Amino acid sequence: MSVTSLTIVVDNQAQPGCLAEHGLALWVNVGKEHILLDTGQGPALAPNMNTLNLNPNELHHLVLSHGHYDHTGGLPWVLSAAHDIQVWSHPAVVEPRYSITNEEVRPIDMPQASKRALHALPGSRVHWSSQPKWITAKIGLTGTIPRQTDFEDPGGPFFLDPQGHRPDPIEDDQALWIMTDKGLVICVGCCHAGLINTLTYIQKLTGEKRIRAIIGGLHLGAATAWRMEQTIITLNELQPELLIPCHCTGTLAVEELQNRLNFAVRPGYAGLRLELK
Ligand SMILES: [Fe+2]
Ligand SMILES: [Fe+2]
Repeated sequence: MSVTSLTIVVDNQAQPGCLAEHGLALWVNVGKEHILLDTGQGPALAPNMNTLNLNPNELHHLVLSHGHYDHTGGLPWVLSAAHDIQVWSHPAVVEPRYSITNEEVRPIDMPQASKRALHALPGSRVHWSSQPKWITAKIGLTGTIPRQTDFEDPGGPFFLDPQGHRPDPIEDDQALWIMTDKGLVICVGCCHAGLINTLTYIQKLTGEKRIRAIIGGLHLGAATAWRMEQTIITLNELQPELLIPCHCTGTLAVEELQNRLNFAVRPGYAGLRLELK
């Protein structure tokens, strides 16, 4: 039986000694496989790995959950520090994308340096796919997640053009799953596809219904009361063992999840380690 361990390396919150930033990076060990999901914005990644005694050169895989800057900014450093790392990404991660609020247009796409570093990698080290992929028999990626629920949306004013004509469905949003003896461990970046869409798709892909743990950003800060209600009802039906909301979940949303879910909810922060035997 291989042990799965999770360490939050970059998050909006941090334990003393770690840096906090708006972003996410999650180190996952599954037996001998070492995987990094996302890289944060960049500045917190190397110092936090150092503080947490994580050696980037031991990484085998870098998975990108989607192309936002707060998940991809540390990519050049990871590629320079992890010499044989394989990168797994949806092809749409490099799309230009914007957040538009009250006519204020903010580019939120992958930084140019990250795009250049990604494109400079030899083709043999980058796995581009919009389809589900298996890294090993027990570890997989969703690729584009079908949007099935009528209560979930990408979670913000996201557009593919600075004029705001083309809404961004963030089709590159994907999740990482690990099959353990006691059910699925599901790691999400920002969950722009919606948490329930993500969980039910992974159950369908793997044929495994039991969810052991969910970790990552859930992007529920702008969720309607209806979305929160439906999300909570469905989560209580799905009965995971543990939820670790972090990054972009939203403070009030985390409180509501803690108050109303009938299973364990432990808010995440940089430095949190979890071992699942
Ligand atoms: Fe994010
Ligand atoms: Fe995002």
